[in-house]
Amino acid sequence: MSNVHIFDHPLIQHKLAIIRRKETGVKEFREIVGEIAMLMCYDATRDLNTVEVEIETPVGKATVRELSGKKLAVVPILRAGLGMVDGMLALIPSAKVGHVGLYRDPETLEPVDYYCKLPPDIEERDVFIVDPMLATGGSASAAIGFLKQRGVKNLKLMCIIAAPEGVKRVTEDHPDVEVFCAALDKQLNDHGYIVPGLGDAGDRIFGTK
Ligand code: PRP
Ligand code: URA
Repeated sequence: MSNVHIFDHPLIQHKLAIIRRKETGVKEFREIVGEIAMLMCYDATRDLNTVEVEIETPVGKATVRELSGKKLAVVPILRAGLGMVDGMLALIPSAKVGHVGLYRDPETLEPVDYYCKLPPDIEERDVFIVDPMLATGGSASAAIGFLKQRGVKNLKLMCIIAAPEGVKRVTEDHPDVEVFCAALDKQLNDHGYIVPGLGDAGDRIFGTK
């Protein structure tokens, strides 16, 4: 499980506690999902390359470090992944955004793909796939597969709550992909929902239930 990072930062855990509560409304839920994504982004970008450059401050010369190296992309898995995009872009504003549309068939729990639109140079970018829920792992594994088919080499998966089943599936299917999450919950229920989880992330972000 060395590729799996669980954020135990108090701010992230506090915000997670709020969105888990069943009484939290759509506005607050959506805002906090964005805030958690931003806090997770801060740490998941720790290994970005920097280069030293000489600049002048109003007072004198300084050697500073700036980001260098590969360009970035954020790819939400529709729909719920959309809730994490703005938080990511708050910290990496020049990242391009691709979209992968997948929904889980409620009977089979298998992912069904319905949309894919990626930046044309996606294979040159380091990609952060975002989706709040990693349940069976079928959707995330399929999204990672699409991106690899398009030539992407460096991928990270950012989710808020993961189930052991999803972590197992993704790390077995894609051992090269790092997984970041705010919590690893106990299990899935018979309908493939994470327990205790937070319910249906897409419905809670968009108010569709
Ligand atoms: C949810 C969630 C993930 C997927 C996780 O999406 O946002 O994409 O389920 O489940 P899995 O790990 O078992 O594949 P859903 O299919 O409910 O679609 P939505 O985002 O449009 O609500
Ligand atoms: N998708 C969700 O939105 N929630 C779950 O618990 C599982 C899949």
